[in-house]
Amino acid sequence: MSTVVYTAHDGVVTSIDGRPGDSIMETAVRNGVRGIVGECGGSLSCATCHVFVASETFELVGGPGDLEDEMLDGTAVDRQHNSRLSCQIKLQDGCEYHVTMPSEQV
Ligand code: FES
Repeated sequence: MSTVVYTAHDGVVTSIDGRPGDSIMETAVRNGVRGIVGECGGSLSCATCHVFVASETFELVGGPGDLEDEMLDGTAVDRQHNSRLSCQIKLQDGCEYHVTMPSEQV
């Protein structure tokens, strides 16, 4: 099992136990976590799953790949140094992830 701690733009914190192999986006959508849309279902074509990744989590997951990096230029809220598209972060067993959602996704 993995744990994802989501902090919404308004400060509401939701902690979800996720399944290894699922993405942070899938885990949010399946559990009704507000602030992540995931319009394209994870095919890296919508950028509505934008999150800001906490520093310890960023060390774990690393930066975006080339295509994701391009997509991050089209997010509704400007990207930051710790931006990732959450459909591209797959959960690993036994890990804890902390992300914050931007104020809007579309
Ligand atoms: S869900 Fe569309 S890019 Fe992540």
